[in-house]
Amino acid sequence: MEKHANQIEYEKRIGRTLITEEQIKEEIKKAGEKISALYDGRPILLVAILKGSFVFMADLCRAINVPCEIAFMCAQSYFSGTESSGKVNVVMDLDRDVTKNHVVIVEDIVDTGRTLKYLHKLIGERNPISLHVVTLLDKKERRVVEFTPDLSLFEIPDYFVIGYGLDCDEKYRNLPYIAEYNINI
Ligand code: IMP
Ligand code: MG
Repeated sequence: MEKHANQIEYEKRIGRTLITEEQIKEEIKKAGEKISALYDGRPILLVAILKGSFVFMADLCRAINVPCEIAFMCAQSYFSGTESSGKVNVVMDLDRDVTKNHVVIVEDIVDTGRTLKYLHKLIGERNPISLHVVTLLDKKERRVVEFTPDLSLFEIPDYFVIGYGLDCDEKYRNLPYIAEYNINI
C-alpha cells in the first residue's frame, strides 16, 4: 500500500538522530542514582513541567529509589512551531501545597531560560524545604536570561529538536529518541 502524503511529510521532517534511546537510558540511570544519593532517603516531590517532560518524568521517576511523589504543572512558552513567544503562561498549576516538600523540577529542555527562571521563582516563593532543577537537555548557547539547572543530562547545540516528549506543533513527542527537526525540506 502506498504511504499517505501526511506520513511522507511527517517522516521527512525527522532529521538526524542526536541522542539515541540507549544514551538516554544510560544518562537517566546515572541521574536517578545522583538524585537518590543527594536526598539520601528523604522524600521528594518531582514536579514535571508539561507537556514536554512527560516522557522524561516517567523514566526518571523509575530510576529514583528515595520515597517519591509526583506532581504536574503545565507551562507554555511557545506560540507555534519553532518560534518562542518570550512569555510564560501557567496553563495548569500545581494541585498542592509544597511547604513540606523537597521539590525537584523536571524539565525537558532549557533554551532561552525564560520558562525555568519564571517557574523556579514561582515555586520558590511557595517556600518548599528545598528546590532543585533537573533537565534532560540544555541548549546553553541560546540563553537569554541567566539560568543554570542543578542537573543537566545532555548539552546540545542550537538545533530545534524533537522526540522523547519534545514537539514541533504538538507532533513527534512519541519518538523514542531525540532528533533534529528538518525546518526546510
Ligand atoms: P525557554 O523558556 O526558552 O527556556 O523554553 C523552554 C521550552 O521551550 C521548553 O520547555 C520546550 O517546551 C520549548 N523548547 C525549547 N527548545 C525546543 C526544541 O528544540 N524543541 C522543542 N521544544 C523546545
Ligand atoms: Mg517544556
